[in-house]
Amino acid sequence: MYVLGIETSCDETGVAIYHAEKGLINHVLYSQIEMHSEYGGVVPELASRDHIRKLVPLIKQLMQESKLSAADINGIAYTAGPGLMGALLVGASTARSLAWAWNIPAIAVHHMEGHLLAPMLEENSPEFPFVALLISGGHTLLVQVNQIGAYQLLGESLDDAAGEAFDKTAKLLGLSYPGGPKLSKLAEQGHPQIKFPRPMTDRPGLDFSFSGLKTFALNTINASDKTAQNKADIAAAFQLAVAETLAIKCKRALQQTGLKRLVVAGGVSANSQIRALLMDMAIKEQAEIYFPRPEFCTDNGAMIAYAGCQRLMLGQQQGLDIFARPRWPMSELI
Ligand code: KG4
Ligand code: ZN
Repeated sequence: MYVLGIETSCDETGVAIYHAEKGLINHVLYSQIEMHSEYGGVVPELASRDHIRKLVPLIKQLMQESKLSAADINGIAYTAGPGLMGALLVGASTARSLAWAWNIPAIAVHHMEGHLLAPMLEENSPEFPFVALLISGGHTLLVQVNQIGAYQLLGESLDDAAGEAFDKTAKLLGLSYPGGPKLSKLAEQGHPQIKFPRPMTDRPGLDFSFSGLKTFALNTINASDKTAQNKADIAAAFQLAVAETLAIKCKRALQQTGLKRLVVAGGVSANSQIRALLMDMAIKEQAEIYFPRPEFCTDNGAMIAYAGCQRLMLGQQQGLDIFARPRWPMSELI
């Protein structure tokens, strides 16, 4: 069974083909980052228009490179939400129309389920059940995953998502959009001398709050003489605070659930210090830890093709309506 996956929820146009037995056949990604960086963040209308320009040519390229034709494809999975409405509609309407034309089912995929299942694309993939830490630009979630569709929310961010905190702090440090990876690079030259808070770790529970770190960064920057070294030190201290906070909460989640398997996914899981600290914690907890390869941490079509294929094999598919839901709590998934 070949499934075409389409991701257009934000600023990346991603397409991929996943085969139920052979695994990932091919994937292609076009990033709009350069276009948005001029504006310091994603401009939704520009994002939608660019998805329209790029999506069909990318699908053609993917099919040609994979040496597959429409007759080979058994289903089309698309990101139906959460995300930007206009951007989602491009993927959803293209997927739904192709599925209609090719007379095959369409499957609406939850973007965060895609992230959550991305480590399944690796050779060494986790078995169910596991704890998942999802850290992206829009969400920070701790979820107990019992099987596909059986997700129990353990904790979430009450304000900024981890990626959002990275991007906003990066902006304060004068770095261009998207700031997460740039802040991480700057942090390599710094020393975490200033002690940032580890938010919400001094009380029980698995929720997060990252907006205070951004404010702390702002106050620290204003009080410093803004040299390159000071900025690098602030970046390093900020990143360490996020990494340690995530490690403390993941340790708690493993202990609370009694599970010994942790999956970490979403754009921020590409961060090497966060990966390193979470790995140290997992070793101490005698737990297994799984990450997607860095290119599948951020948005991509492969994770959507994979999630769609699993859903299709469970007999699920959507009707003829074009399903796009900008806000879509993961707890509503079954
Ligand atoms: O999962 P993703 O690609 O998109 C959403 O679903 O939001 O995540 C994007 C986020 C951005 O905030 C970006 O700055 C952050 O992931 N990010 C990073 C790194 N790479 C991407 N943050 C910190 N360190 C990185 N290496
Ligand atoms: Zn994402």
